[in-house]
Amino acid sequence: MTKEPGNSRGGETGKGIEIDPWSSDMPADVEKLFEKFGLEKIPASVRKRFSSSHLFSRNIIIAHRDFAKWMKAADAKKEVAVLSGIKPSGDFHLGSKQTAEEIIFFQKQFGAKVYYAIADLEANADNGLSLEECRKNAVSNVADLLALGLDEKNAYIYRQSKENRVMNKAFLLSKRVTRATFEAIYGDKPVSLQMSVLVQMADIFLPQHEDFGGPKEVLVPVGLDQDPHIRLSRDLAFKERLVLPSATYHKFVKNLKGEAKMSKRDPDSMLWLSESAQSVEGKLKRAITGGRDTADEQRKLGGRVDECAIFDLCKMHFEADDKSLAFRRERCVKGKMLCGECKKEVIELALKWLGKHQETREKMLKRAEKIIAAQD
Ligand code: TRP
Repeated sequence: MTKEPGNSRGGETGKGIEIDPWSSDMPADVEKLFEKFGLEKIPASVRKRFSSSHLFSRNIIIAHRDFAKWMKAADAKKEVAVLSGIKPSGDFHLGSKQTAEEIIFFQKQFGAKVYYAIADLEANADNGLSLEECRKNAVSNVADLLALGLDEKNAYIYRQSKENRVMNKAFLLSKRVTRATFEAIYGDKPVSLQMSVLVQMADIFLPQHEDFGGPKEVLVPVGLDQDPHIRLSRDLAFKERLVLPSATYHKFVKNLKGEAKMSKRDPDSMLWLSESAQSVEGKLKRAITGGRDTADEQRKLGGRVDECAIFDLCKMHFEADDKSLAFRRERCVKGKMLCGECKKEVIELALKWLGKHQETREKMLKRAEKIIAAQD
């Protein structure tokens, strides 16, 4: 989807701007990002260490900045934080699940305290939602987080608009950034988005606030689209004499139409965790696969598994067992299983996972309301 210049979100990505966090497009060439912005690959030793998690064993977390520095502190049992955020512009979708699973993994693995920013101000600036609508979505989002396994006792979940420490810091940070810097990183954007950036910087620095024990190592798991923010936060942390935040980056699940990034702006391209079985089934039936033009051809040549949105869903979300995933790939590329049969199995897997999640989530709604109400 291309963004129209001058729409409500405004602004056009300038020339040479590689990543626009507010667009649905991701650069096709991820390799180039490694070179141009100095992202680092996850070393084999780290992959091995965490091979019990599909996030690492399947190369879903593909890049990092300064992850070793954070791990060293965590391994030394120093107090460390893991922080991420979400725009509460709707229910959780598979992309939000992705980030949530990462912070939960780091919370469990290292006992790290989780900070989770509900970016209601950014949702207002970028998507036009009122703060009241954002509050409703926030409750739903927190219920998902809890259902996915977040330990709320070792977490601080907050809405940006209600967190004075963040708001004040955002204002104070404004004197550190010039318009030229903004334009170089983001292109020409409305002031509301520039303000959202400052608020996000303040989110990232919140764990280092003296109320939370002062400077410490902070890991920010995000999608690749958020790297411009990470770069700026590291620059500002230096100027603020704070510890430079580390980051891990995940790939995006292919959207159901076969494009690189799921977007809430195109509900048909993605799955929501709250979606009805009927709707999920319909979307998966219509989803793009790597199938050939005819069944004969597919039996002969095999499917193009790496182009398939259905296989991607299995890999990133619904096929828990590595062996079953390998078996699915093999049957596909050897032409032993056609798309219809595969889809039928995957629909079943997806519905089973979603059904169970929805049941747990329902039970978490009361807790979630309490967590959000604490800031009213
Ligand atoms: N900008 C992020 C998004 O679009 C949300 C967000 C707000 C965030 N504050 C954050 C992400 C801090 C990581 C860290 O989804």
